Amino acid sequence: MREIEKKAAQAYGERFDEDPELVASAPGRINLIGEHTDYNGGFVLPCAVDRRVAVAAAAGSGELYSTNFDEMRRLDEARDGSWADYPRGVAWALDEKGYEAGNLRAVYAGDVPLASGLSSSAAIEAATALALDALFGLGLDRKELAMLCQRAENEFVGVQSGIMDQYASLLCEAGSALLVDCRSLEAESVPLNLEEANLALLVCDTRVERGLADTGYNDRRASCERAAATLGVEQLRDAGVEDVSRLSGEELMRARHIVTENARVLDAVAALRAGDFPELGRLMYASHASMRDDFEISTKELDAFVEIAEADGAPGARLTGAGFGGCAIALVETDKTGRLARAVRETFEARSFQDPVFYEFVPADGAEVAR
Ligand code: GLA
Repeated sequence: MREIEKKAAQAYGERFDEDPELVASAPGRINLIGEHTDYNGGFVLPCAVDRRVAVAAAAGSGELYSTNFDEMRRLDEARDGSWADYPRGVAWALDEKGYEAGNLRAVYAGDVPLASGLSSSAAIEAATALALDALFGLGLDRKELAMLCQRAENEFVGVQSGIMDQYASLLCEAGSALLVDCRSLEAESVPLNLEEANLALLVCDTRVERGLADTGYNDRRASCERAAATLGVEQLRDAGVEDVSRLSGEELMRARHIVTENARVLDAVAALRAGDFPELGRLMYASHASMRDDFEISTKELDAFVEIAEADGAPGARLTGAGFGGCAIALVETDKTGRLARAVRETFEARSFQDPVFYEFVPADGAEVAR
C-alpha cells in the first residue's frame, strides 16, 4: 500500500475500532495539452500525478471522516458546500441510475493540493466510485464510473465541468498520458517515457486563487456554444480552421483556440509516438499562447512561468487545467528543474507575486483498489 492509503486505513482503524474492508485511491491530474476542448466534444491528453486521495471504506451507516479537514460528515445529508458533497454526489448519481449501492462508512486522506487545479475533487469522486463499486459488487467499468462521477460534479455539486478530470483519474496508466476523444468517449494510453528522454514534468502552483474560475469557466463554455451555433455545427469539434474565419470578435477568438487546440492534441500524440519531444514542447508553447491571447484564461503569474521556462531553454511549458490561476507545467531536462524553479521563485518575489510551490512527477497510476 502507498503511504496515503496506509494513512487512510490507519485513521479508519483508530476512528471505528475495526479494519476497513478495502482501501481505494485515485490520483489528481495535469493536462499535457488540450484545454477546454472536452466540453466542445474534442480531444484531451492528461496524465495522472503521483498525488492521490485514498478512501478506507466498509459497508456502514453513512459516516464520512476526512483526515485533511479533521471532521466528520454524513453521506445521507444534503449538499453543504463541503468536501463531503463529492462522495454524496457519487452516491446520488449511482442511485439515480438505479444501482443498488449500500450505505458507506469511510475515511478519506489525500495529498492532492486542494483548489490548485490538479483535480482533487475528481480524485475524491473517483476513489469513492471505485470503493462503492468494489464494496457492493456493482460491476461497473471505469468509463461508466467516470461518467457517473461527472454527473455527480455537474448535477449534484453544480460545477459544469467536462469529462477530462474523471477520465484521467480513473483511466490513466503509469508511464503514459491518456488520449480521450471526448465525443465518442474512447480513450487510449499513449506512452510518455520521460525518463528515457531525460525529461521531467515540473508543475508550478502559482497559488493564485481560482476565485473567478467558475464564472470564467461558464462564460467560456457559453461563448463556445454560441460560436458553434453561429457556424451551424453541433459542437466546435465539428468546425475547421477555415470555418472560424466566418466568425468575429470574441466568438472568433474562442473558437480559434478550440479548433487549433484540437489539432495540437492530435499532433502532440503523433510527436509522442515518434519520441519527438521538441515537437511536443513546441505544441505546448503554442497552446499556451492560444490560451493567453484567444481564450484569455491565463494570468500574469502563469505567463511569467512560461516565459521564464522558455528563456531557460525548457522544451515546452503551458498553463494546465481551467486557467484563471492554479498551475502551469514545464517539460524540463531532468538536471534543470531546480534551476528553473529558482529562477521562477526569484522573479515571482521581485514582482511581489505569491510564493509558488513546485512538484516534479512522472506519469502515475490511475485509480486502484488495494485491499
Ligand atoms: C477543468 C474541467 C475540465 C476541463 C478543464 C479545461 O479542469 O473540470 O473538464 O474543461 O477545466 O481543459
